[in-house]
Amino acid sequence: MATRQFTLTDNSSGKTSTLEALSPSVGPDVINIAPLAKDHGVYTFDPGFMSTASCESKITYIDGDKGVLLYRGYPVEQLAAKSSFLEVSYLLIYGELPTQTQLEEFTRSIGRHTMINESLLRFYNGFHYDAHPMAQLSAVVASMAGFYHDSLDIYNPRHREIFAHRIIAKMPTISAAAYKHMLGQPFVYPRNDLDYCSNLMSMFFGVPAEPFEIDPIAARALDLLLILHADHEQNASTSTVRLAGSTGTNPYSAISSGVAALWGPSHGGANEAVLQMLEEIGTADAIPKFLARVKDKQDHTKLMGFGHRVYKHFDPRAQIIRETCHQVLANLGRSDNPLFELALRLEEIALKDEYFVSRRLYPNVDFYSGIIYRAIGIPQSMFTVMFAIARTAGWVAHWQEMIADPGMKIGRPRQLYTGATTRNYVDIAAR
Ligand code: SDX
Repeated sequence: MATRQFTLTDNSSGKTSTLEALSPSVGPDVINIAPLAKDHGVYTFDPGFMSTASCESKITYIDGDKGVLLYRGYPVEQLAAKSSFLEVSYLLIYGELPTQTQLEEFTRSIGRHTMINESLLRFYNGFHYDAHPMAQLSAVVASMAGFYHDSLDIYNPRHREIFAHRIIAKMPTISAAAYKHMLGQPFVYPRNDLDYCSNLMSMFFGVPAEPFEIDPIAARALDLLLILHADHEQNASTSTVRLAGSTGTNPYSAISSGVAALWGPSHGGANEAVLQMLEEIGTADAIPKFLARVKDKQDHTKLMGFGHRVYKHFDPRAQIIRETCHQVLANLGRSDNPLFELALRLEEIALKDEYFVSRRLYPNVDFYSGIIYRAIGIPQSMFTVMFAIARTAGWVAHWQEMIADPGMKIGRPRQLYTGATTRNYVDIAAR
């Protein structure tokens, strides 16, 4: 099929070059700008990658105007209703939904990797009890490179697969250990007789002094949240994992860099910030005053959980979570949830306010997720950790896709330099 072409003319020299557009399976064409440097000696300038595709990928697709999110072509709404986090993890990594046998083998393999090396537990003692769990998570994940760096040939597909299973299996264990350290409670070992989310809850909330009773409603709600957070194209943390991984570094180090990037309040840290914001607003009658602060550019206050680089209409994940909130809160006997009512009122008012409407700001995945996490009993400081557990599936899938690409190159962006031109050193006496 004839590809779309763009002609670029340098008006000063009259030199012209033809740029080819590359067509996706769905979504906007992208222009291959490689000839620009060669033909015209120029680079493109796009801070924040607002209009730049950094790679080719087959994993996830978002249509921000239509509120579409596909994991390997499957709508997230269908996966949320019918799948499980482990099945979605398999789909993201291997590209296809597993057969019954494949899912059983994958689940068994994940179960065999849930424990962490006992010496890793000593890392937590180096943290004060009030150390943020995201700091603990990024540190302990990075330290895993110290255990596997000599048994991981990243160009060996089987080594890559073992890494994928290990890190997906161990993220809940590592996260739970951080939480237990914060509580001053003993670490609870994983139980392979439990499903992924029940095991996570057992390690978070169980104590050696008594048997832990799994709440299936809470476990299912958690599994849904993990599905919805599993992947999201080239978001900041996934792009960080790709850039770090492109150097050939140990994949645990690349995942740890993704954890660090996710922590930012503009990214995965927003779910914790939303609850802080709701508690700061307090009651519905304080909403107008808060929104006035958000609109005051001098105030630098953001409506956390609102806005998105890609979704300029609704975020399908936010819609699913908001609908799930009603059901989960009712099932958990927490229908009377003032924070949820406040969030609903805040959304209703903001979506009628010209400031947000004109900027196409809608609730994103982080706006309601904390309501469910809190109803399940997960503390605010652990909300972004939950996001990291889920997004590990996406990070792994993108890392694998990049490393397996024979055309992979180390990521090394160019820049627009506006600093000093060459000048000579001046002795201090003459300054
Ligand atoms: C996630 O990329 C992903 O896919 C991320 C994610 C994933 O699954 O990986 O979806 C997860 O990170 C969701 C986003 C969570 N972050 C927040 O909720 C924090 C609050 N949101 C904003 O910080 C902001 O909306 C971003 C960072 C999410 C997006 O920022 P953009 O795309 O760079 O948009 P922008 O900052 O250029 O905003 C355009 C305008 C600006 O106003 P003007 O300068 O035009 O007057 O909208 C304003 C912004 O000031 N604006 C907001 C706002 N978000 C944007 N104003 C108030 N409150 C907000 N939340």
